[in-house]
Amino acid sequence: MARIRGPRLAVLLALAALAAVAAAAAVGEARSQSTYIIHLAPDHPALTVARANGGGAAVLGRLLPRRLRAPRPRVLYSYQHAATGIAARLTPEQAAHAAAGEGVLAVYPDQARQLHTTHTPAFLHLTEAAGLLPAATRGASSAVVGVLDTGLYPIGRGSFAAPAGLGPAPASFSGGCVSTGSFNASAYCNSKLIGAKVFYQGYEAALGHPIDETKESKSPLDTEGHGTHTASTAAGSPVAGAGFFDYAKGQAVGMDAGARIAAYKICWKSGCYDSDILAAMDEAVADGVDVISLSVGAGGYAPSFFQDSIAIGAFHAVSKGIVVSCSAGNSGPGEYTATNIAPWILTVGASTIDREFPADVVLGDGRVFGGVSLYAGDPLNSTQLPLVFAGDCGSRLCLLGELDPKKVAGKIVLCERGKTARVEKGAAVKLAGGAGMILANTEASGEELVADSHLVPATMVGQKFGDKIKYYVQTDPSPTATIVFRGTVIGKSPSAPRVASFSSRGPNYRAREILKPDVIAPGVNILAAWTGAASPTDLDIDSRRVEFNIISGTSMSCPHVSGLAALLRQAHPDWSPAAIKSALMTTAYNLDNSGETIKDLATGVESTPFVRGAGHVDPNSALDPGLVYDAGTDDYVAFLCTLGYPPSLISIFTKDSSVADCSRKFARSGDLNYPAFAAVFSSYKDSVTYHRVVRNVGSNSSAVYESKIVSPSGVDVTVSPSKLVFDDKNRSLAYEITIAVSGNPVIVDAKYSFGSISWSDGVHNVTSPIAVTWPSNGGSAAM
Ligand SMILES: *[C@@H]1O[C@H](CO)[C@@H](O)[C@H](O)[C@H]1NC(C)=O
Ligand SMILES: *[C@@H]1O[C@H](CO)[C@@H](O)[C@H](O)[C@H]1NC(C)=O
Ligand SMILES: *[C@@H]1O[C@H](CO)[C@@H](O)[C@H](O)[C@H]1NC(C)=O
Ligand SMILES: *[C@@H]1O[C@H](CO)[C@@H](O)[C@H](O)[C@H]1NC(C)=O
Ligand SMILES: *[C@@H]1O[C@H](CO)[C@@H](O)[C@H](O)[C@H]1NC(C)=O
Repeated sequence: MARIRGPRLAVLLALAALAAVAAAAAVGEARSQSTYIIHLAPDHPALTVARANGGGAAVLGRLLPRRLRAPRPRVLYSYQHAATGIAARLTPEQAAHAAAGEGVLAVYPDQARQLHTTHTPAFLHLTEAAGLLPAATRGASSAVVGVLDTGLYPIGRGSFAAPAGLGPAPASFSGGCVSTGSFNASAYCNSKLIGAKVFYQGYEAALGHPIDETKESKSPLDTEGHGTHTASTAAGSPVAGAGFFDYAKGQAVGMDAGARIAAYKICWKSGCYDSDILAAMDEAVADGVDVISLSVGAGGYAPSFFQDSIAIGAFHAVSKGIVVSCSAGNSGPGEYTATNIAPWILTVGASTIDREFPADVVLGDGRVFGGVSLYAGDPLNSTQLPLVFAGDCGSRLCLLGELDPKKVAGKIVLCERGKTARVEKGAAVKLAGGAGMILANTEASGEELVADSHLVPATMVGQKFGDKIKYYVQTDPSPTATIVFRGTVIGKSPSAPRVASFSSRGPNYRAREILKPDVIAPGVNILAAWTGAASPTDLDIDSRRVEFNIISGTSMSCPHVSGLAALLRQAHPDWSPAAIKSALMTTAYNLDNSGETIKDLATGVESTPFVRGAGHVDPNSALDPGLVYDAGTDDYVAFLCTLGYPPSLISIFTKDSSVADCSRKFARSGDLNYPAFAAVFSSYKDSVTYHRVVRNVGSNSSAVYESKIVSPSGVDVTVSPSKLVFDDKNRSLAYEITIAVSGNPVIVDAKYSFGSISWSDGVHNVTSPIAVTWPSNGGSAAM
């Protein structure tokens, strides 16, 4: 390793000082500068100096010639644990020069990621009835869940109070709470909330000016609500009498109520920047969290693994034994929309639970149309009121300020969904003097219903009912309506779980032979703690403040699984992140509460493994899965090599050498020891063989597992051996599975076929989905 010598060091330190001055005052920064993340070879000589003087400025001294040192580059972060490199403000010219530098693996522009919530406030109460609050959540726990989100609002929130008997933070945790701005660590942190940090260098740099502290808090304090919600879902303490107004009263509790929470604030009003995310992952790894929960990701298609800070940071975290659980995204129902799809990440889709909030429309002619609502104000008391169509009153979408008060005052207004937030449409009706709202879907959203905390008496109906109500308004000489709110109804929904239309789907945009998402978990109408600094709708016109809120999104499903992973980490300290993920996947269930395959709300029919992954998480079964499919860093490197990434780029993920060793490759990327199978056929004669190794983690040292195959249509699946005879606990055995087009000529009408393989010893069923993509189905992404 090269050493930096005296004179050079002086120059570097001087540059560091200049950079520090620049950092202190963001003023004077050239407009042309933007943030870049620079990944360096782990043995890059500049790193030693960078670390010695506590910053990454030295790195730039090595990378930029004197002529390119103006405008002054500014270093935002230096990464050591979740990546190796820095984030800095550079001109495109400086960035290009740096990219060509020796030992520079890659230079990427910083990007804003999104929170994975549908902006659909709704209310629901999650209880033990959903079967997802395992008894094991009671009592002390040493697991630490790192929640990377909008921060956390602990003030007066029982969810973040330390339950009696919870001991001090685990000795393995070296993080802590920062006291800054409106966040008072000595008042807010305790043995439940043991970490609170804030990351805004990338955000502020992108803004071009300091954060407006009248609008958001430059501290770990959550002024948005999302992070408070996700953290309490994963590991909140039990709170009795939770609920929203009269809806769904009961106990609220996180999945792992005994786990500790470390909050890392990375998301701000305009998004969550890669440079800040990577910095937070860097610290979370160094702090020693057990699980990272990240309900954030790309809004569009998944970026390639080596341009994705979440994938890069997660790789390092997983190599340290940390489980990284992420939301799949809310870009469904289109295919290839799942994000956070690297195989080392646990990718979570969203499904419904068994609870609804009906609110009926009763028309003047006596007809009743069912809808949903979480309106919590004064009811209409069955009073029939004049009904108008918003399209006749200036704005069919009920945009703020566009409704004619003369036409809507005192009336119920039929508005169409689209363009603006649903709750905002109700606000527009209210501001124009309207008495209530019926929000109707159009073809774009069909029959998907979302219960919202409207500011006027309002309900939402599907497209079919909406069209009928519209016809009534347009044909009846004096149309009237009222809305009857029926509160909270449990166990009557057609079936549960169902996969939300918004939940992002596979196939995997970056690696089609790795099935994604991995699992589904509750993500629709989830009740959890909320900030006191914003309304439940996050609208300024909404002056309400609530301790709990109900929102929907894969953002909500992810922390459920993060909490379950924390429980599994505690129950099985020697399991790797891959083993924990395997346990959750192979024990997931695929039938709903009516005994049929879990349905997809986007289509109304059966979901597929590209929609529900391996199925819905089943925590109690995951505690004892029988067998696990394990994998480690070396396997993931071999996987990346197999995908064809150049070794120099793979070095972004590894930290042990400057050029990754690609001497080990799989025959195909799907040969990674994954607990699911995705075969991509290139012809109607194709056949793929995948290799797997399973480890006996059950209590029976002489367990015998037999395979049971459900072949996808048009496909023959064979397994060898078909019986696995173990002779000891923790012993591993290999098998191979061949997925081939059936011998006889087949005409397969579908783009995909699905099946499964299950290994059973009579006590455990270890089940993996099999997905087949037929030829000429394009869609594959470039790296
Ligand atoms: C922070 O909280 C502690 C403990 O409640 C209190 O003593 C202290 O005065 C608070 N500090 C500020 C700046 O409010
Ligand atoms: C419905 O009845 C309640 C209770 O009597 C009353 O407070 C409320 O104002 C009534 N609402 C309307 C729209 O008349
Ligand atoms: C372990 O598995 C073997 C083979 O299936 C079976 O015969 C035996 O009864 C099992 N032992 C226990 C304790 O379940
Ligand atoms: C079981 O095997 C795995 C992988 O070889 C190892 O990491 C783990 O420590 C073993 N556990 C026990 C209890 O021996
Ligand atoms: C395993 O699957 C079979 C059906 O294939 C089912 O009858 C049995 O109840 C399952 N066992 C467990 C423990 O889930």
